[in-house]
Amino acid sequence: MIEAKPAEAAATSVAAPTRTDRIIERAKHHLLQNYKQQPIVLVKGEGPWVWDAEGRKYLDLIGGIATCALGHCHPAVVGAAKAQLETLWHASNVFYTEPQIQLAERLTSAFGGADARAFFCNSGAEANEALIKLARRWQHEIAGNKQRSEIITFEGGFHGRTLATVTATAQPKYQAGFEPLPQGFVYAPMGDLDAVKRLVGPQTAAILVEPIQGEGGVRPAPAGFLRALRALCDEHGLLLLIDEVQTGIGRTGTVFGYQVEAIQPDAISLAKSLGNGLPIGAMVCSDAVGKALPSGTHGSTFGGNPVAAAAAVATWDLATAPQMLASNVHNGALLHQLGASIKARHPGRVVECRGRGMLFGIEVDSGAADVVARCRQNGLLVNLAGEKTVRFAPPYVTSSHELTEGLTLFERSL
Ligand SMILES: Cc1ncc(COP(=O)(O)O)c(C=O)c1O
Repeated sequence: MIEAKPAEAAATSVAAPTRTDRIIERAKHHLLQNYKQQPIVLVKGEGPWVWDAEGRKYLDLIGGIATCALGHCHPAVVGAAKAQLETLWHASNVFYTEPQIQLAERLTSAFGGADARAFFCNSGAEANEALIKLARRWQHEIAGNKQRSEIITFEGGFHGRTLATVTATAQPKYQAGFEPLPQGFVYAPMGDLDAVKRLVGPQTAAILVEPIQGEGGVRPAPAGFLRALRALCDEHGLLLLIDEVQTGIGRTGTVFGYQVEAIQPDAISLAKSLGNGLPIGAMVCSDAVGKALPSGTHGSTFGGNPVAAAAAVATWDLATAPQMLASNVHNGALLHQLGASIKARHPGRVVECRGRGMLFGIEVDSGAADVVARCRQNGLLVNLAGEKTVRFAPPYVTSSHELTEGLTLFERSL
Protein backbone atom coordinates (compact mmCIF):
# COMPACT_ATOMS: atom_id res chain seq x y z
CA MET A 1 0.00 0.00 0.00
CA ILE A 2 1.43 3.40 -0.96
CA GLU A 3 1.33 5.80 1.97
CA ALA A 4 0.06 9.34 1.57
CA LYS A 5 2.74 12.02 1.34
CA PRO A 6 3.99 12.79 4.88
CA ALA A 7 3.21 16.25 6.24
CA GLU A 8 6.91 17.37 6.25
CA ALA A 9 7.36 16.35 2.62
CA ALA A 10 4.24 18.27 1.63
CA ALA A 11 5.47 21.35 3.51
CA THR A 12 8.92 21.37 1.84
CA SER A 13 7.78 20.47 -1.69
CA VAL A 14 7.72 23.31 -4.16
CA ALA A 15 4.22 22.51 -5.39
CA ALA A 16 1.40 23.81 -3.22
CA PRO A 17 -0.49 21.04 -1.46
CA THR A 18 -3.33 19.71 -3.57
CA ARG A 19 -6.92 19.36 -2.39
CA THR A 20 -6.16 15.64 -1.94
CA ASP A 21 -3.08 16.42 0.22
CA ARG A 22 -5.14 18.74 2.40
CA ILE A 23 -8.01 16.29 2.86
CA ILE A 24 -5.68 13.38 3.66
CA GLU A 25 -3.78 15.54 6.14
CA ARG A 26 -7.06 16.31 7.94
CA ALA A 27 -8.04 12.64 7.85
CA LYS A 28 -4.73 11.65 9.43
CA HIS A 29 -5.43 13.98 12.32
CA HIS A 30 -9.09 13.21 12.89
CA LEU A 31 -9.98 9.71 11.70
CA LEU A 32 -9.17 6.63 13.71
CA GLN A 33 -6.22 5.16 11.84
CA ASN A 34 -7.80 1.70 11.54
CA TYR A 35 -7.82 1.44 7.72
CA LYS A 36 -4.95 1.17 5.24
CA GLN A 37 -6.40 3.79 2.94
CA GLN A 38 -5.24 4.37 -0.61
CA PRO A 39 -4.07 7.97 -1.07
CA ILE A 40 -6.91 9.27 -3.22
CA VAL A 41 -10.13 11.07 -2.30
CA LEU A 42 -13.14 9.92 -4.30
CA VAL A 43 -15.71 12.59 -5.04
CA LYS A 44 -17.97 11.30 -7.81
CA GLY A 45 -19.16 8.05 -9.38
CA GLU A 46 -21.17 6.94 -12.38
CA GLY A 47 -21.66 3.31 -13.38
CA PRO A 48 -18.27 1.54 -13.03
CA TRP A 49 -16.35 4.84 -13.08
CA VAL A 50 -15.24 7.12 -10.23
CA TRP A 51 -13.39 10.42 -10.09
CA ASP A 52 -10.99 11.70 -7.45
CA ALA A 53 -10.59 15.18 -5.98
CA GLU A 54 -7.96 16.03 -8.64
CA GLY A 55 -10.37 15.13 -11.46
CA ARG A 56 -8.62 11.82 -12.27
CA LYS A 57 -10.94 9.09 -13.57
CA TYR A 58 -10.71 5.43 -12.51
CA LEU A 59 -12.34 2.24 -13.70
CA ASP A 60 -13.82 0.92 -10.45
CA LEU A 61 -13.72 -2.87 -10.62
CA ILE A 62 -14.02 -3.26 -6.86
CA GLY A 63 -17.33 -1.35 -6.57
CA GLY A 64 -17.23 -0.51 -2.86
CA ILE A 65 -15.91 -4.06 -2.24
CA ALA A 66 -18.73 -6.02 -3.86
CA THR A 67 -21.32 -3.46 -2.86
CA CYS A 68 -22.27 -1.21 -5.79
CA ALA A 69 -23.93 -4.00 -7.79
CA LEU A 70 -25.56 -1.63 -10.27
CA GLY A 71 -22.63 0.77 -10.28
CA HIS A 72 -22.45 4.24 -8.82
CA CYS A 73 -25.53 6.45 -8.79
CA HIS A 74 -27.73 4.09 -10.82
CA PRO A 75 -30.76 6.18 -11.82
CA ALA A 76 -33.32 3.57 -10.69
CA VAL A 77 -31.75 3.36 -7.22
CA VAL A 78 -31.25 7.12 -6.94
CA GLY A 79 -34.88 7.65 -7.96
CA ALA A 80 -36.23 5.16 -5.42
CA ALA A 81 -34.06 6.48 -2.57
CA LYS A 82 -34.89 10.12 -3.39
CA ALA A 83 -38.62 9.48 -3.56
CA GLN A 84 -38.51 7.75 -0.19
CA LEU A 85 -36.25 10.45 1.28
CA GLU A 86 -38.84 13.04 0.40
CA THR A 87 -41.66 10.96 1.89
CA LEU A 88 -40.47 9.28 5.11
CA TRP A 89 -36.84 8.85 6.22
CA HIS A 90 -37.20 6.83 9.33
CA ALA A 91 -39.90 5.54 11.60
CA SER A 92 -38.52 2.78 13.90
CA ASN A 93 -39.46 -0.86 13.85
CA VAL A 94 -42.25 -0.33 16.34
CA PHE A 95 -44.23 0.70 13.23
CA TYR A 96 -44.66 -0.92 9.82
CA THR A 97 -43.15 0.76 6.76
CA GLU A 98 -43.88 -0.55 3.27
CA PRO A 99 -40.43 -0.56 1.55
CA GLN A 100 -39.21 -3.04 4.17
CA ILE A 101 -42.14 -5.33 3.45
CA GLN A 102 -41.64 -5.07 -0.31
CA LEU A 103 -38.03 -6.07 0.20
CA ALA A 104 -38.93 -8.91 2.58
CA GLU A 105 -41.40 -10.27 -0.01
CA ARG A 106 -38.63 -10.43 -2.59
CA LEU A 107 -36.03 -11.96 -0.28
CA THR A 108 -38.30 -14.60 1.20
CA SER A 109 -39.73 -15.72 -2.14
CA ALA A 110 -36.19 -16.07 -3.59
CA PHE A 111 -35.12 -17.97 -0.46
CA GLY A 112 -37.98 -20.42 -0.37
CA GLY A 113 -41.52 -19.22 -0.92
CA ALA A 114 -44.07 -18.23 1.69
CA ASP A 115 -42.32 -20.33 4.31
CA ALA A 116 -39.56 -17.82 5.03
CA ARG A 117 -38.95 -14.70 7.11
CA ALA A 118 -36.63 -11.67 6.80
CA PHE A 119 -34.99 -9.57 9.52
CA PHE A 120 -33.29 -6.29 8.62
CA CYS A 121 -30.17 -4.72 10.07
CA ASN A 122 -27.43 -2.42 8.78
CA SER A 123 -24.33 -4.44 7.92
CA GLY A 124 -22.91 -7.85 7.18
CA ALA A 125 -21.55 -8.33 10.68
CA GLU A 126 -24.98 -7.58 12.15
CA ALA A 127 -26.63 -9.99 9.72
CA ASN A 128 -24.19 -12.68 10.88
CA GLU A 129 -24.81 -11.79 14.54
CA ALA A 130 -28.48 -12.46 13.79
CA LEU A 131 -27.56 -15.86 12.31
CA ILE A 132 -25.52 -16.75 15.39
CA LYS A 133 -28.25 -15.69 17.81
CA LEU A 134 -30.88 -17.47 15.71
CA ALA A 135 -28.94 -20.75 15.70
CA ARG A 136 -28.29 -20.75 19.44
CA ARG A 137 -31.80 -19.76 20.40
CA TRP A 138 -33.36 -22.24 17.97
CA GLN A 139 -31.32 -25.08 19.46
CA HIS A 140 -31.95 -23.96 23.05
CA GLU A 141 -35.62 -22.95 22.91
CA ILE A 142 -37.21 -24.74 19.95
CA ALA A 143 -35.22 -27.94 19.52
CA GLY A 144 -34.75 -28.26 23.28
CA ASN A 145 -30.98 -28.77 23.06
CA LYS A 146 -29.65 -26.44 25.77
CA GLN A 147 -26.14 -27.81 25.32
CA ARG A 148 -25.98 -27.03 21.59
CA SER A 149 -24.25 -23.64 21.32
CA GLU A 150 -21.14 -24.20 19.21
CA ILE A 151 -20.84 -23.04 15.62
CA ILE A 152 -18.37 -24.57 13.17
CA THR A 153 -16.77 -22.07 10.76
CA PHE A 154 -13.90 -22.31 8.26
CA GLU A 155 -10.28 -21.27 8.17
CA GLY A 156 -9.78 -18.37 5.78
CA GLY A 157 -13.39 -17.25 6.22
CA PHE A 158 -14.57 -13.77 7.08
CA HIS A 159 -17.80 -12.92 8.89
CA GLY A 160 -17.32 -9.42 10.33
CA ARG A 161 -15.68 -7.32 13.03
CA THR A 162 -18.03 -7.50 16.02
CA LEU A 163 -16.71 -9.66 18.83
CA ALA A 164 -18.86 -12.66 17.92
CA THR A 165 -18.33 -12.38 14.15
CA VAL A 166 -14.59 -11.79 14.47
CA THR A 167 -14.49 -14.97 16.56
CA ALA A 168 -16.47 -16.75 13.84
CA THR A 169 -13.78 -15.44 11.45
CA ALA A 170 -11.12 -18.15 11.71
CA GLN A 171 -8.18 -15.87 10.98
CA PRO A 172 -5.89 -15.02 13.91
CA LYS A 173 -4.84 -11.67 12.39
CA TYR A 174 -8.36 -10.29 12.89
CA GLN A 175 -8.65 -11.62 16.46
CA ALA A 176 -5.28 -10.75 17.98
CA GLY A 177 -5.49 -8.36 20.91
CA PHE A 178 -9.25 -8.60 21.39
CA GLU A 179 -9.20 -11.46 23.88
CA PRO A 180 -11.12 -12.77 25.69
CA LEU A 181 -13.09 -13.80 22.64
CA PRO A 182 -16.63 -15.14 23.03
CA GLN A 183 -16.91 -18.90 23.40
CA GLY A 184 -18.64 -21.26 21.06
CA PHE A 185 -16.76 -21.25 17.75
CA VAL A 186 -14.55 -23.99 16.33
CA TYR A 187 -12.78 -24.06 12.99
CA ALA A 188 -12.27 -26.56 10.18
CA PRO A 189 -10.08 -26.25 7.08
CA MET A 190 -12.23 -25.10 4.14
CA GLY A 191 -13.43 -28.03 2.08
CA ASP A 192 -12.33 -30.69 4.57
CA LEU A 193 -15.50 -32.67 5.30
CA ASP A 194 -13.75 -35.20 7.53
CA ALA A 195 -12.42 -32.39 9.72
CA VAL A 196 -15.95 -30.98 10.02
CA LYS A 197 -17.29 -34.41 10.98
CA ARG A 198 -14.65 -34.70 13.71
CA LEU A 199 -15.78 -31.35 15.17
CA VAL A 200 -19.48 -32.26 15.31
CA GLY A 201 -20.59 -33.31 18.79
CA PRO A 202 -23.46 -32.93 21.28
CA GLN A 203 -22.42 -29.28 21.72
CA THR A 204 -22.71 -28.33 18.01
CA ALA A 205 -25.52 -25.97 17.00
CA ALA A 206 -24.76 -24.98 13.41
CA ILE A 207 -22.29 -24.69 10.55
CA LEU A 208 -21.59 -21.24 9.07
CA VAL A 209 -19.93 -21.05 5.65
CA GLU A 210 -19.37 -18.70 2.70
CA PRO A 211 -20.06 -20.14 -0.79
CA ILE A 212 -16.91 -18.28 -1.90
CA GLN A 213 -14.47 -16.99 0.71
CA GLY A 214 -14.19 -13.38 -0.44
CA GLU A 215 -11.86 -11.67 2.03
CA GLY A 216 -9.94 -14.94 2.34
CA GLY A 217 -8.74 -14.62 -1.27
CA VAL A 218 -11.77 -15.37 -3.50
CA ARG A 219 -11.77 -19.12 -2.78
CA PRO A 220 -14.91 -21.01 -3.89
CA ALA A 221 -16.06 -23.92 -1.73
CA PRO A 222 -15.13 -27.15 -3.54
CA ALA A 223 -17.90 -28.63 -5.71
CA GLY A 224 -20.28 -30.69 -3.61
CA PHE A 225 -19.04 -29.29 -0.28
CA LEU A 226 -22.15 -27.24 0.54
CA ARG A 227 -24.32 -30.24 -0.32
CA ALA A 228 -22.24 -32.44 1.97
CA LEU A 229 -22.57 -29.87 4.78
CA ARG A 230 -26.35 -29.84 4.27
CA ALA A 231 -26.45 -33.63 4.62
CA LEU A 232 -24.27 -33.50 7.74
CA CYS A 233 -26.53 -30.85 9.30
CA ASP A 234 -29.61 -32.97 8.54
CA GLU A 235 -27.98 -36.04 10.05
CA HIS A 236 -27.10 -34.29 13.32
CA GLY A 237 -29.91 -31.76 13.75
CA LEU A 238 -27.69 -28.72 13.03
CA LEU A 239 -28.60 -25.54 11.20
CA LEU A 240 -26.82 -24.73 7.94
CA LEU A 241 -26.10 -20.99 7.90
CA ILE A 242 -24.74 -19.43 4.71
CA ASP A 243 -22.94 -16.10 4.73
CA GLU A 244 -24.09 -14.46 1.48
CA VAL A 245 -22.84 -11.00 2.42
CA GLN A 246 -20.38 -10.90 -0.46
CA THR A 247 -21.89 -13.46 -2.84
CA GLY A 248 -25.60 -12.57 -2.62
CA ILE A 249 -27.92 -10.55 -4.90
CA GLY A 250 -26.84 -12.08 -8.20
CA ARG A 251 -23.10 -11.48 -8.01
CA THR A 252 -22.01 -15.01 -8.81
CA GLY A 253 -24.62 -15.56 -11.54
CA THR A 254 -27.31 -17.03 -9.28
CA VAL A 255 -29.49 -14.94 -6.95
CA PHE A 256 -27.67 -16.42 -3.94
CA GLY A 257 -24.21 -17.98 -4.13
CA TYR A 258 -25.32 -21.22 -2.44
CA GLN A 259 -27.61 -21.93 -5.42
CA VAL A 260 -24.58 -23.32 -7.24
CA GLU A 261 -25.61 -26.50 -5.36
CA ALA A 262 -29.19 -27.78 -5.12
CA ILE A 263 -29.51 -27.12 -1.39
CA GLN A 264 -31.78 -25.19 0.93
CA PRO A 265 -29.98 -23.55 3.87
CA ASP A 266 -31.80 -22.86 7.12
CA ALA A 267 -30.77 -19.21 7.13
CA ILE A 268 -28.59 -16.76 5.20
CA SER A 269 -27.05 -13.35 5.82
CA LEU A 270 -26.99 -10.53 3.26
CA ALA A 271 -25.56 -7.00 3.09
CA LYS A 272 -23.10 -5.34 0.66
CA SER A 273 -24.95 -5.35 -2.72
CA LEU A 274 -28.35 -5.40 -1.05
CA GLY A 275 -28.67 -1.59 -0.93
CA ASN A 276 -26.25 -0.90 -3.80
CA GLY A 277 -24.14 1.02 -1.28
CA LEU A 278 -26.77 2.32 1.13
CA PRO A 279 -26.24 0.51 4.43
CA ILE A 280 -28.65 -2.37 4.87
CA GLY A 281 -28.22 -6.00 5.91
CA ALA A 282 -30.64 -8.87 6.24
CA MET A 283 -31.04 -12.29 7.72
CA VAL A 284 -33.44 -14.58 5.86
CA CYS A 285 -34.52 -17.87 7.39
CA SER A 286 -37.19 -20.53 7.18
CA ASP A 287 -40.35 -19.74 9.12
CA ALA A 288 -39.81 -22.76 11.37
CA VAL A 289 -36.35 -21.63 12.41
CA GLY A 290 -37.40 -17.96 12.60
CA LYS A 291 -39.80 -18.84 15.42
CA ALA A 292 -36.71 -18.90 17.62
CA LEU A 293 -36.62 -15.08 17.59
CA PRO A 294 -40.09 -13.97 18.72
CA SER A 295 -41.06 -10.46 19.80
CA GLY A 296 -38.47 -8.80 22.03
CA THR A 297 -35.59 -11.23 21.42
CA HIS A 298 -33.70 -9.28 18.73
CA GLY A 299 -33.85 -5.91 17.01
CA SER A 300 -32.17 -2.89 15.42
CA THR A 301 -33.07 0.80 15.47
CA PHE A 302 -32.08 1.51 11.89
CA GLY A 303 -32.59 -1.98 10.46
CA GLY A 304 -34.75 -1.83 7.33
CA ASN A 305 -34.68 1.97 7.26
CA PRO A 306 -37.22 3.06 4.59
CA VAL A 307 -34.67 4.87 2.38
CA ALA A 308 -32.21 1.96 2.42
CA ALA A 309 -35.05 -0.53 1.91
CA ALA A 310 -36.49 1.43 -1.04
CA ALA A 311 -33.01 1.54 -2.62
CA ALA A 312 -32.67 -2.21 -1.98
CA VAL A 313 -36.01 -2.99 -3.69
CA ALA A 314 -34.92 -1.05 -6.78
CA THR A 315 -31.52 -2.75 -6.69
CA TRP A 316 -33.03 -6.22 -6.25
CA ASP A 317 -35.38 -5.88 -9.22
CA LEU A 318 -32.53 -5.13 -11.61
CA ALA A 319 -29.68 -7.08 -10.01
CA THR A 320 -31.56 -10.38 -9.82
CA ALA A 321 -33.38 -10.14 -13.18
CA PRO A 322 -32.67 -13.22 -15.36
CA GLN A 323 -30.85 -11.15 -18.01
CA MET A 324 -28.56 -9.63 -15.36
CA LEU A 325 -27.75 -13.07 -13.93
CA ALA A 326 -26.97 -14.32 -17.44
CA SER A 327 -24.76 -11.29 -18.04
CA ASN A 328 -22.86 -11.96 -14.80
CA VAL A 329 -22.27 -15.57 -15.87
CA HIS A 330 -21.08 -14.39 -19.28
CA ASN A 331 -18.82 -11.69 -17.85
CA GLY A 332 -17.46 -14.11 -15.26
CA ALA A 333 -16.41 -16.43 -18.09
CA LEU A 334 -14.79 -13.46 -19.82
CA LEU A 335 -12.83 -12.58 -16.66
CA HIS A 336 -11.55 -16.17 -16.44
CA GLN A 337 -10.61 -16.15 -20.12
CA LEU A 338 -8.74 -12.84 -19.81
CA GLY A 339 -7.11 -14.01 -16.57
CA ALA A 340 -5.99 -17.27 -18.20
CA SER A 341 -4.27 -15.43 -21.06
CA ILE A 342 -2.52 -13.07 -18.61
CA LYS A 343 -1.37 -16.14 -16.66
CA ALA A 344 -0.06 -17.71 -19.86
CA ARG A 345 1.93 -14.55 -20.64
CA HIS A 346 3.28 -14.31 -17.04
CA PRO A 347 4.01 -17.88 -15.97
CA GLY A 348 5.02 -18.02 -12.32
CA ARG A 349 4.00 -14.41 -11.69
CA VAL A 350 0.28 -15.21 -11.90
CA VAL A 351 -0.41 -18.26 -9.74
CA GLU A 352 -4.14 -18.83 -10.16
CA CYS A 353 -7.42 -17.21 -11.23
CA ARG A 354 -10.47 -18.00 -9.05
CA GLY A 355 -14.07 -16.98 -8.59
CA ARG A 356 -17.50 -17.07 -10.16
CA GLY A 357 -19.48 -14.44 -12.02
CA MET A 358 -18.59 -10.93 -10.92
CA LEU A 359 -16.41 -12.04 -8.00
CA PHE A 360 -12.97 -12.81 -9.34
CA GLY A 361 -9.48 -13.07 -7.89
CA ILE A 362 -6.02 -13.30 -9.41
CA GLU A 363 -3.40 -14.72 -7.09
CA VAL A 364 0.12 -13.44 -7.76
CA ASP A 365 3.37 -14.94 -6.50
CA SER A 366 4.27 -11.88 -4.36
CA GLY A 367 3.72 -8.15 -3.87
CA ALA A 368 -0.06 -8.19 -4.38
CA ALA A 369 -0.46 -4.94 -2.40
CA ASP A 370 2.04 -3.25 -4.74
CA VAL A 371 0.10 -4.54 -7.75
CA VAL A 372 -3.08 -3.03 -6.30
CA ALA A 373 -1.26 0.31 -5.81
CA ARG A 374 0.11 0.26 -9.37
CA CYS A 375 -3.37 -0.58 -10.70
CA ARG A 376 -4.63 2.57 -8.99
CA GLN A 377 -1.81 4.63 -10.50
CA ASN A 378 -2.78 3.18 -13.88
CA GLY A 379 -6.44 4.15 -13.38
CA LEU A 380 -7.92 0.87 -12.12
CA LEU A 381 -9.43 0.30 -8.65
CA VAL A 382 -9.20 -3.24 -7.25
CA ASN A 383 -8.20 -4.48 -3.79
CA LEU A 384 -6.25 -7.06 -1.89
CA ALA A 385 -8.00 -10.21 -0.63
CA GLY A 386 -6.03 -12.61 1.55
CA GLU A 387 -2.25 -12.25 1.32
CA LYS A 388 -1.64 -12.61 -2.40
CA THR A 389 -4.88 -12.15 -4.30
CA VAL A 390 -6.04 -9.12 -6.26
CA ARG A 391 -9.83 -9.02 -6.03
CA PHE A 392 -12.24 -7.81 -8.70
CA ALA A 393 -15.91 -7.32 -7.72
CA PRO A 394 -17.12 -5.22 -10.65
CA PRO A 395 -20.51 -3.57 -10.80
CA TYR A 396 -22.80 -5.81 -12.87
CA VAL A 397 -23.30 -2.98 -15.34
CA THR A 398 -19.62 -3.07 -16.37
CA SER A 399 -19.44 -3.84 -20.10
CA SER A 400 -17.28 -6.58 -21.64
CA HIS A 401 -15.21 -3.81 -23.19
CA GLU A 402 -14.64 -2.17 -19.78
CA LEU A 403 -13.72 -5.50 -18.18
CA THR A 404 -11.20 -6.12 -20.95
CA GLU A 405 -9.79 -2.63 -20.39
CA GLY A 406 -9.56 -3.34 -16.65
CA LEU A 407 -7.65 -6.58 -17.15
CA THR A 408 -5.28 -4.81 -19.56
CA LEU A 409 -4.58 -2.22 -16.86
CA PHE A 410 -4.06 -5.05 -14.36
CA GLU A 411 -1.52 -6.76 -16.64
CA ARG A 412 0.33 -3.49 -17.05
CA SER A 413 0.50 -3.22 -13.25
CA LEU A 414 1.92 -6.70 -12.58
C1 LIG B 1 -18.59 -12.75 3.70
C2 LIG B 1 -18.64 -11.53 4.58
N1 LIG B 1 -19.36 -11.57 5.71
C3 LIG B 1 -19.45 -10.51 6.52
C4 LIG B 1 -18.80 -9.33 6.24
C5 LIG B 1 -18.92 -8.16 7.15
O1 LIG B 1 -19.73 -7.20 6.57
P1 LIG B 1 -19.77 -5.70 7.15
O2 LIG B 1 -18.43 -5.11 6.89
O3 LIG B 1 -20.88 -5.04 6.39
O4 LIG B 1 -20.05 -5.80 8.60
C6 LIG B 1 -18.05 -9.24 5.06
C7 LIG B 1 -17.33 -8.01 4.74
O5 LIG B 1 -16.43 -7.97 3.97
C8 LIG B 1 -17.96 -10.37 4.21
O6 LIG B 1 -17.25 -10.35 3.08
